[in-house]
Amino acid sequence: MILLTGGAGYIGSHTAVVLLRAGYEVLVVDNFCNSSPESLKRIEKITGKKCPYIRGDIRDRALLDNVFQQHTIEAVIHFAGLKAVGESYAKPLDYYHCNVFGTITLLQAMQAFGVKTFVFSSSATVYGNAPIPYTEQTPTGVPSNPYGRTKLHIEQILQDLSNSDDEWKIALLRYFNPVAAIETGEIGEDPLGIPNNLMPFISQVAVGKLPELAVFGNDYPTRDGSCVRDFIHIMDLAEGHCAALDFLQNPAHPNGVHIWNLGTGKGISVLEMIAAFEKVNQVKIPYRIAPKRDGDLAEFYANPNKAKMELNWQAKRSLEDMMRDLWNWQKNNPNGYR
Ligand code: NAD
Ligand code: UFG
Repeated sequence: MILLTGGAGYIGSHTAVVLLRAGYEVLVVDNFCNSSPESLKRIEKITGKKCPYIRGDIRDRALLDNVFQQHTIEAVIHFAGLKAVGESYAKPLDYYHCNVFGTITLLQAMQAFGVKTFVFSSSATVYGNAPIPYTEQTPTGVPSNPYGRTKLHIEQILQDLSNSDDEWKIALLRYFNPVAAIETGEIGEDPLGIPNNLMPFISQVAVGKLPELAVFGNDYPTRDGSCVRDFIHIMDLAEGHCAALDFLQNPAHPNGVHIWNLGTGKGISVLEMIAAFEKVNQVKIPYRIAPKRDGDLAEFYANPNKAKMELNWQAKRSLEDMMRDLWNWQKNNPNGYR
């Protein structure tokens, strides 16, 4: 059985579907601070399989000990964490406590029960302001915000843990910008309040919940002046987790820390994303140009070749798929899971 911390959230719920379809059993631990058990019900409907969960916090060692005692956990995929970049400036202690202390508590429980296969939700933000495209050999930099720095700290902790005990099998999955939803539209990204990220903002403008999009900056040194990112379909990203887990669990593969970029390798600008959403869905997105947002980098995207070579995984879905599937989720669930 695979333990998914934060499995009710955006990336965890899509990964749960992929794992269940691949024949894995899963168990979710989530405190629902940024999600709801409704996503887990829908996973069961989509897959026709059980998606059991325990409401709890990864900082609660007694709760985790109970989980490892009562279930045969072979590996952990660790999604749980706080992820809002802006909020991390205002509440750095909450971010370090949840992300760093939470991960340490989880790893201590795993160590105590001899579970040593671990997949971690990292981020391209750990590259800081490095030359693009980022490869896994690109040295990590200093992320511009406290959230990003929690990810870098956790990566370093995992490397130190692996150095201390060579039985650990660890995947650091550096996500680029996940977007859209499962093709059937039953689960998707459901941010609380006003979305921080581009694509949920666009889809909420499209559905009439928000009046217009603010494009943060149009004089970056990019082809159209707006920022460029590597947007990846959430189902491609979810499949990347299954591939990483299969790799780690294959006894022919070496133990230790393995790093994989999960991106498409293609940069798309903010203005191009707006135009693609409008074209594919035939919906107008009113927008205005606004001042730059602090900490945004002009342009970054992945070199995804290592994941292709080692995991036999690559992003398959197109920009058009992303736009169609995002809109399918949003228009069928204008209020998310509520
Ligand atoms: P999400 O907020 O939708 O999911 C995170 C889940 O973890 C939520 O269900 C939340 O309730 C739960 N959670 C948070 N703190 C917890 C705690 N202390 N104990 C138990 N559960 C807790 O976010 P997501 O987009 O699915 O992201 C998943 C992971 O991927 C996060 O670690 C995030 O930092 C990382 N990541 C996300 C992105 C992105 O753009 N979405 C990019 C890079 C990395
Ligand atoms: N943007 C807008 N208007 C908005 C929201 C975003 O113009 O209302 C722009 C941003 O300025 C940026 C681009 O859209 O240029 C993408 O912004 P997102 O907030 O969607 O994504 P980021 O690239 O800033 O951040 C993402 C993840 C972080 C992660 C980071 C680096 O959300 O978790 O990538 O990997 F740290």
